[in-house]
Amino acid sequence: MTINNVMVIGAGQMGAGIAQVCAQSGFQTFLHDMNEAALNKGITSIERLLARSVEKERMTETEMKETRNRLKPAVSINDASKCDLVIEAVVENMAVKAKVFQQLDEITPEHTILASNTSSLPITEIASATNRPSQVIGMHFMNPVPVMKLVEIIRGLQTSEETYQAIREMTHQLQKTPVEVADFPGFVSNRILMPMINEAIFTLYEGVASPEDIDTVMKLGMNHPMGPLQLADFIGLDTCLYIMEVLHEGFGDSKYRPCPLLRKYVKAGWLGKKSGRGFYQYD
Ligand code: CAA
Ligand code: NAD
Repeated sequence: MTINNVMVIGAGQMGAGIAQVCAQSGFQTFLHDMNEAALNKGITSIERLLARSVEKERMTETEMKETRNRLKPAVSINDASKCDLVIEAVVENMAVKAKVFQQLDEITPEHTILASNTSSLPITEIASATNRPSQVIGMHFMNPVPVMKLVEIIRGLQTSEETYQAIREMTHQLQKTPVEVADFPGFVSNRILMPMINEAIFTLYEGVASPEDIDTVMKLGMNHPMGPLQLADFIGLDTCLYIMEVLHEGFGDSKYRPCPLLRKYVKAGWLGKKSGRGFYQYD
């Protein structure tokens, strides 16, 4: 199957990054968000990163303009009717994602593949919101998308071989490395990463060390590029909490219980870098 036109839904940090790499790789890319301000912010952030790539000589001025021309802000989700692939990157919540997939199932042509960038939710359940479960798949990009090479690919119970091969091929076209993982809560990445972040939050909660010191231990002691609390702020504390809840419920094991401090911060609206306050303060 040939993929030419792509729609990305959700213009937050992940959706904007995914739309950027799609447009850079030659795909006609629609970016949609239900919130127009978020859509404009997403487009502005892509334009800033493209300009930075020109500055750094990773891209020519002409390539930047061509990329920008392939990128189309879509105020309405109905533009999905023109697309061969839709990649959903809205909030990590099953009810919200299921509603988006139901809508997409009605709007898009029969051949269109519907992919989710979910961090942890079951692809089989997302697929069951549609009448085309064989064309639903997980395409899990890592943050920041333009920099990180990995895409976890997750087949739902009924995902067809044709869908899987098309998405694998597309991932290579995006200059990323696909790794196929099974449809288990948190897949591989977040089953391992998120309990480490949650444990770092417990370490802070129990007064073992300050945020700065916890992060310094993991950066200098384990050579991680970011400390776990800095990384949690970068991912978004709401997303971290949703993922821990999916692991906790999905495995039914108390070792995945979210730290109460994480819950408290999310309730306070301290969502990390995107809201200006998390474990650290941002301008
Ligand atoms: N978007 C796009 N590009 C970015 C970026 C962003 N948000 N942040 C940094 N970059 C680019 C910069 O442009 C820079 O390149 P240039 O200077 O050549 O333009 C390059 O990345 C390196 O950036 P910096 O020098 O500013 O900083 P750094 O060396 O510390 O690297 C980092 C930044 C790549 C983010 C690095 O700190 C890192 O790898 N952190 C860990 C990231 C990680 O673990 N990601 C996975 C999160 S989990 C996930 O995604 C799954 C999930 O479901 C939650
Ligand atoms: P975000 O909060 O930055 O952005 C989400 C965007 O989706 C917002 O702009 C919001 O307005 C929009 N949105 C919400 N409901 C919508 C709907 N029904 N229709 C259209 N737009 C809608 O979130 P994010 O960090 O970009 O995460 C998005 C998805 O990607 C989540 O499923 C998350 O788990 C996953 N993910 C996140 C990371 C990360 O590091 N943050 C990494 C990999 C995957």
